[in-house]
Amino acid sequence: MQKRLLQWYEKNGRHELPWRNTTNIYHIYLSEIMLQQTQVNRVRDEYYPQFLAKFPTLKTLADAQESEVLAAWSGLGYYSRARNLHKTAKLCENELPKSYEELLKLPGIGSYTASAICAFGYHQNLPVLDTNIKRVIKRLFALINPSEKELTRQAVKVLNDKEPRAHNLALMDLGSLVCLPKNPKCQECPLTSECQGKEEPELYTQTKKTKYETMELFYGVCVKDDKITLVKTEGSMYKGMLSLPCVDPLEDDFLVSFKHAYTKYRLSVHLYRLDEAPKDAIWLSLEELESAPISSLVTKALTALNLKKLP
Ligand code: ADE
Repeated sequence: MQKRLLQWYEKNGRHELPWRNTTNIYHIYLSEIMLQQTQVNRVRDEYYPQFLAKFPTLKTLADAQESEVLAAWSGLGYYSRARNLHKTAKLCENELPKSYEELLKLPGIGSYTASAICAFGYHQNLPVLDTNIKRVIKRLFALINPSEKELTRQAVKVLNDKEPRAHNLALMDLGSLVCLPKNPKCQECPLTSECQGKEEPELYTQTKKTKYETMELFYGVCVKDDKITLVKTEGSMYKGMLSLPCVDPLEDDFLVSFKHAYTKYRLSVHLYRLDEAPKDAIWLSLEELESAPISSLVTKALTALNLKKLP
């Protein structure tokens, strides 16, 4: 079974992905953090190469200001990933630890990331359980709602101690290319003869529906001499990012509204003219905004305002 899986991977795997063509542990670690909530193509084409051009080593990342790291993460969302990446770089400076247990102690590194670094970076023989691999394992062993412990136990049973890296990458690609959540392509699967779940594959993929929260947000727009006022966000999911200042809405000052989706939130954003900048204001020109730590919500607001034509 392991041999068939590896042969399938050899022929069909996504070998061209840049983080699979490096032995640099920092680069592998960065890719795993970026890939957690972001699609492969976006990471591969935009964020991963740009981030590494700015911060080519763990040391350059450790020496950077948090605002620079957040600026390189602008638009990717889940900004705690960037803050934790930076904290981890500062704690390790030149080298990430080599053991699963030590990696787990670092900010932002949970069991998935620790095992991915160990298997893909250090060729250690442990199971990597991302959502794709979990689905493959659940079907292979017909597990309905298994605990993490049970999933790990089953994944360990099929590990390949000679080729741990390729084995886990093969399972990952099998999950994302063949063992699909809906209408899996069982006729293409190298594990079909062993698969205990192939008769009713959708039994094993019941997922919790995301509960969205709606929210109304009111921001002020204060522009002077081609500069706009932003403020540093404290203690929220946008912590450390620059945002428009919050305001109490006054009907006469209304400018424009737009909708924005971010993580579990479905936001209605309303922009108002603001004459007085808040005390802690940071003034930025359009050019400075390009390299500032701003979220896609702020970018969208600037577009909605058609900023250059502002009064
Ligand atoms: N290759 C290695 N890790 C990966 C991931 N998390 N997603 C897609 N491809 C990968």
